[in-house]
Amino acid sequence: MRTDTGQIVYLADYRPTDFVLERVDLTFELHPTETKVEARLIFHRREGTDRQAPLVLDGDELTLSGLLLDQTEVSAAQYEATAESLTVRDLPESAPFELTITTIINPEANTQLMGLYRTGGIYCTQCEAEGFRRITYFPDRPDVLAPYTVNIIADKAANPLLLSNGNFLGGAGYGEGKHFAAWFDPHPKPSYLFALVAGDLGVVEDTFVTASGREVALKIYVEHGKEPRAAYAMDALKRSMKWDEERFGREYDLDIFMIVAVSDFNMGAMENKGLNVFNDKYVLADPEIATDADYANIEAIIAHEYFHNWTGNRITCRDWFQLCLKEGLTVYRDHEFSADQRSRPVKRIAEVRHLKSEQFPEDGGPLAHPVRPTKYREINNFYTTTVYEKGSEVTRMIATLLGRDLFKQGTDLYFDRHDGQAVTIEDFIKCFEDASGRDLTQFSLWYHQAGTPLVTASGTYDAGGRSFTLSLEQMMPVTPGQTTKEPMHIPLRMALFAEDGALLTPTSVTGAELTDDVLHLTERAQTVVFHGIPSRPVLSLNRSFSTPINLQFSQSAGDMALIARYETDHFARWQALIDLGLPNLLQAARDARQGIAVTCDAAFVDALLAAAKDESLEPAFRAQALALPSEADIARELGGDNDPDAIHAGRQAILALIAEAGKDVFTALYDNMQTPGPFSPDAASAGRRALRNAAFTYLSQSDNAPARAKAAYDAANNMTDLSAALTILAHRFPETAEAKAALENFHDRFAENALVIDKWFAIQAAIPGAATLERIQGLMETPLFKRTNPNRMRALVGTFAFANPTGFGRADGAGYRFLAQEILDIDQRNPQLAARILTSMRSWRLLEPVRADHARSALMQIERAGGLSTDVRDIVDRILK
Ligand code: PHE
Ligand code: ZN
Repeated sequence: MRTDTGQIVYLADYRPTDFVLERVDLTFELHPTETKVEARLIFHRREGTDRQAPLVLDGDELTLSGLLLDQTEVSAAQYEATAESLTVRDLPESAPFELTITTIINPEANTQLMGLYRTGGIYCTQCEAEGFRRITYFPDRPDVLAPYTVNIIADKAANPLLLSNGNFLGGAGYGEGKHFAAWFDPHPKPSYLFALVAGDLGVVEDTFVTASGREVALKIYVEHGKEPRAAYAMDALKRSMKWDEERFGREYDLDIFMIVAVSDFNMGAMENKGLNVFNDKYVLADPEIATDADYANIEAIIAHEYFHNWTGNRITCRDWFQLCLKEGLTVYRDHEFSADQRSRPVKRIAEVRHLKSEQFPEDGGPLAHPVRPTKYREINNFYTTTVYEKGSEVTRMIATLLGRDLFKQGTDLYFDRHDGQAVTIEDFIKCFEDASGRDLTQFSLWYHQAGTPLVTASGTYDAGGRSFTLSLEQMMPVTPGQTTKEPMHIPLRMALFAEDGALLTPTSVTGAELTDDVLHLTERAQTVVFHGIPSRPVLSLNRSFSTPINLQFSQSAGDMALIARYETDHFARWQALIDLGLPNLLQAARDARQGIAVTCDAAFVDALLAAAKDESLEPAFRAQALALPSEADIARELGGDNDPDAIHAGRQAILALIAEAGKDVFTALYDNMQTPGPFSPDAASAGRRALRNAAFTYLSQSDNAPARAKAAYDAANNMTDLSAALTILAHRFPETAEAKAALENFHDRFAENALVIDKWFAIQAAIPGAATLERIQGLMETPLFKRTNPNRMRALVGTFAFANPTGFGRADGAGYRFLAQEILDIDQRNPQLAARILTSMRSWRLLEPVRADHARSALMQIERAGGLSTDVRDIVDRILK
């Protein structure tokens, strides 16, 4: 493990390498504990650089076992090798030269899952961001691009499959039960996109014919016997390929596209050129094991990694500060894909829910950083929702500012101008400026200024003057390292409605630019006047969440109910319902803390139930309306001195009041929203299941026995319904015989299936209340618990810390102390995973003083421990600052 050196990398220090890498030729002799890697690298000095400069290559836990310069041994005086670097001096001044570097690595001992490692008996690599340097000494940075030839030699019986990037060149026997295969990737790529997979796997095959008529072989590799479960992923892949041609004009560029599913993986998936490696959770699905959410995730992640082929691979990042160049844009592309495949407003609602529950707390806490950061201590810690999701929102805003056609011209220009290059956010923005003629200087602040802008709005209507005046103000919160900030360019979609729901169109607008329905807020404060408004308008602001801000706009319950009923933008309808409900949830938390009986506004309950039974709305939308803000959302909105128990109790009380008032509605939905016929994962069927299960959740609030939930568990014929029933049994009636029996049944039924057992762990980790910690400690002793498997750790420890405020945040602080111990333990094996789970503590300062004190002590316990990885050291330092 790399322990912390305290070293910080700055964007301002960027400079190109002294040497240009022309070609890479790798030979792997695979062995579980002693894999020999021979790297032949051809370099020449870059024009205009120092002729004497040594070549310095990156390494990580490497030992050099051979070094040749142009096939001749290099004398000890000419080089220096440590675990972290290889320096070679006195290299040719202008002629190209070849270095042959040999290293021996141990895949079996690689528990970090970075570099070459073993999972489920197969060899697999993960190189982003800095994993390649754990394989061989290399200029391991994204602006070093070269074509790769890869030769793989391995035991034939154990590894019938030998895969790498690009096109297959050929293979043959290699004596003594071994064989070899050669691959060539003609597209110059950075080392982080390198991949190698070897082992024995089953395959699902298909083909795709591109727009220009080329046939591409598609292969998805999974564990033997699981082939049928890759069918949905294959279908999603073909739809992604087609969509990228139609929407962005992007065609695939190799003869073969492969996906390999592995069970030990730190992230979701990886876009290695022509050879994506996936966490099997995002490949494998059938009704028996996958929920509707799983299907949606598979579709989105398959698309995401495929889309990287152009946004990330063909055009890559100059340095890791530019991570959002590929991630923000690619998330935007996968969001658009899913919106086109499913329901656009429902997709948008899910995105905004996710953004607010994950990115807003990051942006509002100690880990806040700009979408394009300027320094880092550990790059692994910057694969964040800010880089990904806020990065996507910023891309979406460019599309909003330019409109569909100019945005398309901008992306066309980007693909044209920068194909084959490693570029920056500035290069990206310039393409949209050149395509549109619009100055995006002020807009670019979205990349540089961290924090969620707060926009305050208030409106007054002047009946005599038939005008509506809107005062807008923007405030940028202080974030770590950024105390003063400039006003941003904030594109607010908006509409004005009459009391009868008709759209009101102003005759003219002064005080701000308004293009179509986009109002441009560019100053700190702006007064906008809408002329020719015949009656008092109801303002719908930030339609479709056109900009990722916090909005403070006091609107009457009546106006919000009107939006919830008449808005043509269904996202805005949903937002209005949430806004109507939120004050009730906040007050409920305060009342519960004081021991006062909780109440709920009738206007909110009426609007909610009206939406729930409105047959003109799609079921998936109605389900989203019924899903109240989470306890974490309420905590964030309360903004400090938070008591998780009171928040939980208040929210439960509101749920019970709605359940009571809507008993008939929910009973009818539960009875009528069945999905007839055989199971289908399509969006419409998933929507019906979501609505039925939302109704079921309310019904279980008023039920005081587990009978209905048990019946639902017994009747379920798919994982969505089965896990929904199990969740209700376990969360609502944890101590009953029914809950215990269902948990046991689920366990026995799916013991062989790791992905389903993860759900079994996760459901239990989220059981509210102080007793859950002991349950978790008990579960960790069971044979199914595997400390080395990231999915399992995330399911149990991650779910507990991220999604169980009352259990994790129990008043005696035992949850925080438990986490601290776990982090120290995980860090020894897998620093990335440890650091990721530790971010669950990022909002500790919002807790009431007693809990905050416990949380701080637990963090200090980590802080004081010796031998921390850079990953954990970086997070704990920033969280405590
Ligand atoms: N680049 C991967 C993705 O977006 C994420 C990833 C990062 C995977 C680092 C592994 C390691 O989808
Ligand atoms: Zn990505």
